[in-house]
Amino acid sequence: VSNMLVDSFGRKHTYLRISITERCNLRCQYCMPAEGVELTACPQLLSQNEIVRLANLFVCSGVNKIRLTGGEPTVRKDIDDICLRLSNLKGLKTLAMTTNGITLAKKLPRLKECGLSLLNISLDTLVPAKFEFMTLRRGHERVLNAIDAAIELGYSPVKVNCVVMRGFNEDEICDFVELTREKPINVRFIEFMPFDGNVWNSKKLVPYSEMMDIFLRSGKELQRIQDHPTETAKNFRIDVHQGTVSFITSMTEHFCACCNRLRLLADGNFKVCLFGPSEVSLRDPLRNGADDSEISEIIGAAIKRKKAAHAGMFNLAKTPNRPMIHIGG
Ligand code: GTP
Ligand code: 5AD
Ligand code: SF4
Repeated sequence: VSNMLVDSFGRKHTYLRISITERCNLRCQYCMPAEGVELTACPQLLSQNEIVRLANLFVCSGVNKIRLTGGEPTVRKDIDDICLRLSNLKGLKTLAMTTNGITLAKKLPRLKECGLSLLNISLDTLVPAKFEFMTLRRGHERVLNAIDAAIELGYSPVKVNCVVMRGFNEDEICDFVELTREKPINVRFIEFMPFDGNVWNSKKLVPYSEMMDIFLRSGKELQRIQDHPTETAKNFRIDVHQGTVSFITSMTEHFCACCNRLRLLADGNFKVCLFGPSEVSLRDPLRNGADDSEISEIIGAAIKRKKAAHAGMFNLAKTPNRPMIHIGG
């Protein structure tokens, strides 16, 4: 394994997030503009073979965990084959997916057979009408069913991602925590982040400290779980609860110093940080016949340009990026 995935701050990148589609079956306001986004023309998107070829190159260079994102990864028709081929890459330990769960219950048994080993499911509200307001679509019950299906199939822990937005769902924090009493899930409260075309403003951000205050008013106690060094979430146990609760504090206490993540977008652009406009195409050299060592060089050079940390929330809101739906988180 070469050191091409080590940046100039010594961070080793072992986790690749691949966005496999820009399409989604929901329309969440925090992820895309109301008018929708322009979709990259199909021929410009990575094919299944191209995804596998690039993923293999990363795995040969030290990546041991791949997460499939989108858009919504399950809308891609060849999702089973993508999972099967990626999970068979020698050296890959974990194949994960972040999904909105809308069509998951039906697809999950097959995805599991194809090697999908970890699941994060997005759910921002426990109130069906609020779900429709936020996503502009129906399907709340299907997401709840997907969470249960994942538990039944033995996924552990099933992570439930809840983006907290002021005036929308901060009043549901205690209800989400209550879900962990009987369900062996990990509910993760996520600070709302700015992306192009989303409805972010600093007033809608509910900082970690405030989420914690809201939780503590329930009278319950949280016990901090010792985190893995590259963990993005602050994780907690609660007495007698089967599940756990976490906070992802990207805005008020970022975790860039231990960042181990890289991103490959659906159009083949490579992004070394969630934030910042800097991207380089891997698709173009691939299609122009570059060999593995030439592509590795491009990847290595991009990683060497990675910044120590993101620019802070107020700067981020002003710096051009992409809409979240293109990045996949
Ligand atoms: P695990 O592998 O289970 O730890 O999942 P994850 O947190 O890496 O992935 P997930 O897709 O579930 O993302 C949860 C939240 O964390 C989303 O809001 C992501 O945008 C955010 N997130 C994921 N990776 C990064 C990152 O590298 N930097 C920042 N700032 N946020 C991230
Ligand atoms: N801020 C924080 N998290 C977000 N996600 C999507 N948009 C945002 C945002 N603006 C979450 C989704 C999904 C994960 C990939 O990122 O809910 O769970
Ligand atoms: Fe890594 Fe960038 Fe996320 Fe910081 S903001 S943790 S550097 S991807």
